[in-house]
Amino acid sequence: MNEKRVIGEKAAEFVKDGMIVGLGTGSTVFYTIAKLGQLLRDGLSLKGVATSVQTEKLARQWGIPLVGYSSEIDEIDVAIDGADEVDSEWNLIKGGGGALVREKMIAKTAKAFIVIADSSKFVGKLGNFPLPVEVVPFGYEMTRKHLAGFGCEPKLREIYDTPFKTDNGNYIFDCSFPEILEPAALERDLNLIPGVVDNGLFVKMVDTIITLDSNRNIIITR
Ligand code: 5RP
Repeated sequence: MNEKRVIGEKAAEFVKDGMIVGLGTGSTVFYTIAKLGQLLRDGLSLKGVATSVQTEKLARQWGIPLVGYSSEIDEIDVAIDGADEVDSEWNLIKGGGGALVREKMIAKTAKAFIVIADSSKFVGKLGNFPLPVEVVPFGYEMTRKHLAGFGCEPKLREIYDTPFKTDNGNYIFDCSFPEILEPAALERDLNLIPGVVDNGLFVKMVDTIITLDSNRNIIITR
């Protein structure tokens, strides 16, 4: 059974006629977008707001009309996205796909934020997955030192030996912490470092989680 497919497609059921939908990034929401494309062909009306260039392309392939994250829209009805880690209080680490800034902006604007997370994503405490932090390229080595001051090992994300660039033209440090004990304080404090754009901690933002239990039944928790 493809867990990501089952929960990704389930999430599409939360989209009702006429909604503006924040479309997340990654291999789970891939299935939501594909399902929405099918529903659209069957007559559902919706508009998407993409969290990345990758998602924008995928949505276009499925014929999903897109609107910008701009004055074109007043609100987003629902945002649907994956996660890299989910703790017992539904705080998240996101940004494995490098889209954390736009993902957070769009999820914060949405009236409801639905997270689709397969069973491998659930942890007692956050921090097994290195925390992605997006930084401006200017002075990034200095920013690395400031990040390390928080007790983590920041590793510059690279692709073919050159820094990975986000859709915003920035770099990402993947920061390995021994354990993240206070996600809210860490989210706030990391963002106070000059040069940091945002980090992948999503604290107290989630409204609904869709996952599967050990018997492979879909679990929807609000
Ligand atoms: C991208 C993200 C993704 O939501 C996260 O990496 C989960 O991805 P996947 O659904 O492929 O496991 O934060 O920036």
